[in-house]
Amino acid sequence: MCGLVGYVGERPALPIVLEGLRRMEYRGYDSAGVAVIVDGKLQWAKKKGRLEVLEAELQTVDWPSGVGIGHSRWASHGEPSDINAHPHSDCNGHFMIVHNGIIENFRELRAELEAKGHRFSSQTDTEVVPHLVEELYAGNLEQAFLGAVKRLRGAFALILVSDLHPDRVLAYRQSSPLVVGLGDNGNFVASDIPALLPYTREVYLLEDGELAVVTAHEVRVMADGKEVEKEVFHVDWDPLAAEKGGYEHFMLKEIHEQPQAVLATAAAYLNENSVNLAELGLTEQAARSMQKLTIVACGTSYHAGLVGKYVIEDLARLPVEVDIASEFRYRKPVLKEGDIVLVISQSGETADTLAALREAKRLGARVWAITNVLGSSVAREADAVLPTFAGPEIAVASTKAYTTQLVVLTLIAIHLAQLRGTASNEELAALVAAVHNLPALLEEPLQQQDRLQQLAKTLTTHEDIFFIGRGLDFAGSLEAALKLKEISYIHAEALAAGELKHGTLALITQGTPVVCLLTQSQLREKMESSIEEVAARGGEIFLFDTMGDGELERLANWRLPLSPVHPVLGPVLAIIPLQMLAYFVALERGCDVDKPRNLAKSVTIE
Ligand code: F6R
Repeated sequence: MCGLVGYVGERPALPIVLEGLRRMEYRGYDSAGVAVIVDGKLQWAKKKGRLEVLEAELQTVDWPSGVGIGHSRWASHGEPSDINAHPHSDCNGHFMIVHNGIIENFRELRAELEAKGHRFSSQTDTEVVPHLVEELYAGNLEQAFLGAVKRLRGAFALILVSDLHPDRVLAYRQSSPLVVGLGDNGNFVASDIPALLPYTREVYLLEDGELAVVTAHEVRVMADGKEVEKEVFHVDWDPLAAEKGGYEHFMLKEIHEQPQAVLATAAAYLNENSVNLAELGLTEQAARSMQKLTIVACGTSYHAGLVGKYVIEDLARLPVEVDIASEFRYRKPVLKEGDIVLVISQSGETADTLAALREAKRLGARVWAITNVLGSSVAREADAVLPTFAGPEIAVASTKAYTTQLVVLTLIAIHLAQLRGTASNEELAALVAAVHNLPALLEEPLQQQDRLQQLAKTLTTHEDIFFIGRGLDFAGSLEAALKLKEISYIHAEALAAGELKHGTLALITQGTPVVCLLTQSQLREKMESSIEEVAARGGEIFLFDTMGDGELERLANWRLPLSPVHPVLGPVLAIIPLQMLAYFVALERGCDVDKPRNLAKSVTIE
């Protein structure tokens, strides 16, 4: 979603604001804008298109001032255009606002303000805010801002600057993330931590309903009219982790980081031969009396949940429901006091997932969370948190978050199986050993770049590609198809291989590309039959398998043999070459890999 940034201090604000936007461009990139107070007056610039367009526009300006705000937009209300780009202002240009989220009641507010004579210039929901502030302003900026915020319904993070109070920037959070960065001789506000990393590691994480009043030498946080004592959160990321580090794209870098990310995540929860998930606070009795586990997530994290279902049901003999967060919330989920809901979210800020978490808690469930962002809303609101240690994931297409989520889900399955006595010690020890060996194994597909690049050239002209697999490979296929479609814009559809003949086989004709995943040896024969069905219709078979023998050669038009791996971990290994394939197909098609059209990282609106 949109990236917000604000600075007030002794350094020129404009370069800091632009650098912050550059580091958060993954949050939105259809237009960008800045506002800076120069010689006591607000100046602004906003342009449709990528940040470079705005930067080019700003090349000749001389704005030395130390107060400014900026925005990179992912359009929700109103098409991407110069006029709809943020910041937005009141009638007289004294109050400028940047916003992330949705103001649900903006139509009625706009009608009310227009009736009072306010003139609007954009189609956005945001523009009501500066006009409301203008309407309510009687000398006290904080009061007018809070008065305006009180009128808003929805989810929003807002940053306000005014030339009537040129020493400050105000920020308010309601269900959309905001952090305040504490610097020397200057302080910052942003919607995401990477924007602040070049300047500070000490931040305040704002909670819903909190107003931050930020000046060069002081940050005050207020809620319900009282000052709040905030704890400083220390960001311990390596700042270079949020840079491209010599790779052409963040996505390629993040694909290559997977062995390390998996190692770090496994190491956090594994001793030599046992799993330590004490954080969950689960006793043997509680584990044995569990009736079901509900997993809730969106997108790639949802796909991880589907893999988790197969693994947990298999090892822990516990029924697992997996729900799309946006569905869970509105379908009256059947949960009772004490049930466990596991939410999965890389960012920890996805609005649908957060809403599902809150709904689960409202129904009396205990919530466990797997998230990659400590300090995120999900991490703060869950009852127990199992972080993934993937480091910052910047590319919009999720890669290392997914594989590390799969590792944590596997460890949860082992933990539950141990407590419930549903798998033998030998079986579980073999799996723990396989998790230890996994990082080394994940290096192998990374060496296949040349072959995958060649394959990408042959797939690039297709408009439909199918992915099939059985069991865990079906869940893996869903993720592989999502990767391809979101960054290359090729229509990709994943199916349980056994389902093909119930309809979709009608679409398989001479030359239709079908990517087949086979990491589950117990399903090998069944999968071979499905592949034969496709081949008999002239489909072209691209096989990724871990069967460790040459016999499958004859079945496939193209094959990537992967090292044999414990079947539970098959999806972790198999997704890596498929992520790379998606990456190279997208490159071949000239797509902007890290910033696919219409998408944004961290979807903070419902
Ligand atoms: C796809 C992708 C999205 C996210 C989804 C949930 O590559 O990244 O589908 O997985 O928006 O995001 P999180 O995990 O941050 O809740």
